[in-house]
Amino acid sequence: MHNQTLTITDNRTEKSYSLPIQDGTIRAMDLRQIKENADDFGLMTYDPAFMNTASCRSGITYIDGDKGILRYRGYPIEELAEKCTFLEVAYLILNGELPTAAQLKDWIQLVTYHTMIHETTKHFLEGFRYNAHPMGMLVSTVAALSTVYPEATNVLDPENRKLQIVRLIAKMPTIAAYTYRHSLGFPYIYPDNELGYTANFMNMLWKMAEPKYAANPVLARALDILFILHADHEQNCSTNAMRAVGSSQADPYLSTAAAAAALSGPLHGGANEQVLRMLDQIGSKDRIPEYIEHVKAGKVKLMGFGHRVYKNYDPRARIIKWTAEQVFQVTGRNPRLDMALELEKIALEDEYFVKRKLYPNVDFYSGIIYQAMGFDPKMFTVLFAIPRTVGWLSQWDELMRDAEQKIARPRQIFTGPAERHLPAGKTLGVAAVA
Ligand code: ACO
Repeated sequence: MHNQTLTITDNRTEKSYSLPIQDGTIRAMDLRQIKENADDFGLMTYDPAFMNTASCRSGITYIDGDKGILRYRGYPIEELAEKCTFLEVAYLILNGELPTAAQLKDWIQLVTYHTMIHETTKHFLEGFRYNAHPMGMLVSTVAALSTVYPEATNVLDPENRKLQIVRLIAKMPTIAAYTYRHSLGFPYIYPDNELGYTANFMNMLWKMAEPKYAANPVLARALDILFILHADHEQNCSTNAMRAVGSSQADPYLSTAAAAAALSGPLHGGANEQVLRMLDQIGSKDRIPEYIEHVKAGKVKLMGFGHRVYKNYDPRARIIKWTAEQVFQVTGRNPRLDMALELEKIALEDEYFVKRKLYPNVDFYSGIIYQAMGFDPKMFTVLFAIPRTVGWLSQWDELMRDAEQKIARPRQIFTGPAERHLPAGKTLGVAAVA
């Protein structure tokens, strides 16, 4: 094995330093010893947007962006999507191993019996305007759960964390469904304990006067698969928010609300809603070349394309395309699919996209399926937040167990003015300069 060190020569002082290399990284703190003189603070790294910084050690999700590989706890996403249910995968992500039959039974029971939200939280939702965006309602309501479970602040107790994790995973679909019912002015539907995770969610969304809601099993399974695909994605923007806020030992409801807020942005989970808006704006296949020219001129972005980590086809996008076919057999084909396929075909042949390694990401096709299933585009990011809650919480639990972690607190390069003073004669409340 080669010598696992990095030798750095500081040309300012002509001194050399030998830094250990572990897991393909050097420790940023090892650079601090590199000083120009005794008063020097020491060398730091500058990495806006964390393009090349590992912020933690994690055993949950593995991505190889160049090869288009995604695995949860070692299992390829394709196998999990084909052979597991969402709750099995949630258990795997949280606990590191797939559940036995008995563990799965207990886990399903636990999640099922925590789906109800407190009546005061239900009333809290009524305070929103009829046209409030569901993501805004979701973020605020998840934060409000913190007031219902004050014991959740005890984040250093593993058993306490477990209880809050179950509550959040169980209540997320309920809150999501209630944001939707609120926007329509429909009465809220209580969870039905006889139904599975996604079938119950569909019940809370769409049940009207019928005594029992029967979800279409193909659609319930499609939603289950979509939830599996969205369950975790290592250190993405919202997970980073979860870890950053969680590192201050804020309670998990507040940290999850922060993560959901990060997810809402159009460059992250909000992209699925924007893809639909973009397809509607393009309007028809013959207008795609014109739109591509706008993208290449830098006027607009091709939403649902590109990824910080994947420089190859997003493996989730491939499974979503397959799931779309199953859904369309029930719902009929969403005409936007043909536009999306054509857009993808043109983009994948165009030098602009090829050179930049821009491929469809998970959001490119998910919205088309969601819309065919009857979801309003405003709900798309909420549908992302439900399963990602599993990833956020599992990453948060890992953070809490990690002895190396401290409060997340980056450094800066100060670019403001050097020390200066107020003019002599400056008095309270009177402008310094006339
Ligand atoms: N359309 C057009 N050009 C793009 C796109 C796009 N969707 N994405 C990246 N590019 C271009 C950039 O303009 C840049 O070009 P340049 O080198 O000529 O300046 C180059 O490709 C590199 O892009 P960056 O912005 O540096 O890549 P970054 O890793 O910072 O951004 C991101 C990744 C935010 C996902 C970006 O690709 C994007 O905005 N995509 C559209 C939004 C989207 O679909 N987001 C969902 C991501 S998946 C998720 O969060 C669940």
